[in-house]
Amino acid sequence: MKKKSTATIVLATHNRDKIREFNAKLGNRIQLKTLDDFPDFPEVAENGGSIRENAYIKARAIHAHTGLPAVADDTGLEVDALDGAPGVYSSRFAGENASYRDNVQHLLKQMKGIPQEQRSARFRTSIAYVDNQEAWDVEGFVEGCILKEVRGEGGFGYDPLFFFEPLQKTFSEMDLKEKNRISHRGKALDAFIHTLKNKKHL
Ligand code: IMP
Repeated sequence: MKKKSTATIVLATHNRDKIREFNAKLGNRIQLKTLDDFPDFPEVAENGGSIRENAYIKARAIHAHTGLPAVADDTGLEVDALDGAPGVYSSRFAGENASYRDNVQHLLKQMKGIPQEQRSARFRTSIAYVDNQEAWDVEGFVEGCILKEVRGEGGFGYDPLFFFEPLQKTFSEMDLKEKNRISHRGKALDAFIHTLKNKKHL
């Protein structure tokens, strides 16, 4: 019997952390290419008004450039006490080219004086898929709260501040497997894989 060939999808990122998380979920079911495989792909302005729009902007651009099925994700941290900020501005909360550490410090500063019970927040991830026949998106989110100081060594971005009540750990205190099981991106990825299967891409 002829073996079904593995589908190739381009993930619109250079981010090693993200590539690692996608690969951990997808295993060998999909051959994942990344922007590292397309060095002449120009920078895309992520100027959408929402994380969903930004995911589509990136997926459409990489599909147009490569002709291959493309997938892009965009994530935002929504802090209730800050009216949903930083949201779509999560990567540049402390300014253009801000480091993870800058953003963490900026968030702590913005939330100074806010009591623990009013520090609820969620991570939300949108994943958009675009090929020459279809375009669709899925979403995943996880509820937590923002601590008053960093805790843990692992993860990236706002992980050391994001406390997940059910496991009594920050995302930085989890290993990748644990985080992927419950995280915004993990859930969005599950929904993504489910939809790929439904649409017979897997
Ligand atoms: P992106 O859209 O996935 O690049 O995410 C935007 C910003 O959100 C990143 O620069 C990080 O600061 C933050 N972020 C995204 N995913 C995570 C995560 O899993 N943990 C912590 N921070 C994240």
